[in-house]
Formats: sequence, C-alpha cells, structure tokens
Amino acid sequence: MTRSTGSAGVFDDLAGSYDHSHHEEIARALIAQVAPGVDDAVADVACGAGAVALQLAQCRRATARPVLAVDLSPGMVAVGRGRAESLDCDGAIDWRVADAVPLPTEDHSLDVVLCASSLHFLGRRATADWRRALRPGGRVGFTLPLATHFRPSALFSRHVAPDVLLPESAEEASAWAASCGWTKVESRVHVIGTRGVVLISASSPVPRG
Ligand SMILES: C[S@@+](CC[C@H](N)C(=O)[O-])C[C@H]1O[C@@H](n2cnc3c(N)ncnc32)[C@H](O)[C@@H]1O
Repeated sequence: MTRSTGSAGVFDDLAGSYDHSHHEEIARALIAQVAPGVDDAVADVACGAGAVALQLAQCRRATARPVLAVDLSPGMVAVGRGRAESLDCDGAIDWRVADAVPLPTEDHSLDVVLCASSLHFLGRRATADWRRALRPGGRVGFTLPLATHFRPSALFSRHVAPDVLLPESAEEASAWAASCGWTKVESRVHVIGTRGVVLISASSPVPRG
C-alpha cells in the first residue's frame, strides 16, 4: 500500500493497533442517541475502521442503501473492510477512501449523518457540509472530546482543527452546535474510563413556508 501523508498517514500507522472496543462503545452510544431507521440513508463520516458503519450494517434492511463510509486513511478503511467481511455485512457498506469534506454525496440525499470521534480533525466546515448533504429535518449525531479529558499526543495535536470546540460540558456543546446552525440539539456527557466525550444529536433546519 502507498504510504499516506498528513492525518491519513498518522491513522494508517495506527490502523493495526486501533482501540476498537473504546471506539465501538462511543459509536454504540451515538447510534442509540440518534436512533437511525433501518432504511435511512446514512453516512459514517471519517469512519476509520467502521465503528459506526459496522454496527449499522448488521441491522439494516436488505433493501436499504448501503451506509456511506468515508475516511482519508486507506489503512483504516482496509481494516474496516476486513472486519465487515468477517461479519458478512460488507455489502451493506459503501466504503470510500476520500476527504470527508465535502461528503461524496448529492445535496439533501441523506437522512442521517453520524461522525464519531472525528469532527475535531475535520473542522467546523464539516458541519456546514452535513447540512448540505442532509434532507431538511435530517438528523446528525457527532461527538466532541470533553476538554477536561482530552490529552492528545504531540503527533495528534498537530491535526486538531482550531475552530472546533472542545467543550467543558454538555450545555457548552449544545450551544456550539446551535451556533453552527443545528436545531433540536441534545447533548450528554459519556465517560469511558479516563476518557470522556460529549454526544450531540440535532436536526437540520426545515425552511419555513
Ligand atoms: C479517532 S479516528 C475515529 C474513527 C471512527 N469514526 C471511529 O469512531 O472509530 C479519526 C478518523 O478521522 C479520519 N480523518 C481525519 N481527517 C479526515 C478527513 N479530512 N477526511 C476523512 N477522514 C478523516 C482519520 O483517518 C481517522 O480514521
């Protein structure tokens, strides 16, 4: 495999030793908060090894559109594909190795956008693109690292977007999401061992008239 540069290279290097159980627990909590329907058109943004996409794929209706799973790191996507094959659900995931901003999908073509443990690498611009990709009233779910628990290594710090809030509380995360243009925002803190995130769910505004 050709070696990637930038944040893709960092995650390619991590792909073989990724902490799946930690990220699966965050993904499980995020999916539970947003509760996508079994037929919904869903994207897993910056999917990594598919923590969100794999859980969704295992309970999709056979006729549903495959989950769009996009990540910049070929190494992470390769691990995700392998896991999907061993779970016999690879056909339910449309894997793409690409920048997740903009998402490779038509305007207003998605019912749900999910982004676990990744928005702080993508930057605030990703949230504007999610509203482009979502139908009016569509649902979004994402996580932000809790500021008091966030201790990135020097290597990772270089890739953290400066314009994404690292919230101190669920209330602060909700206010930030509302400032990005989301409505019906709900946030809650979820702590796993020494690591904490805020889970945020919201809706895309429905134009009046
Ligand atoms: C901490 S991992 C989370 C992966 C996955 N969502 C999970 O919950 O396990 C962050 C992911 O963001 C991806 N990433 C960072 N910047 C990206 C970008 N601009 N476009 C797509 N993926 C990106 C990385 O390659 C990595 O797989």
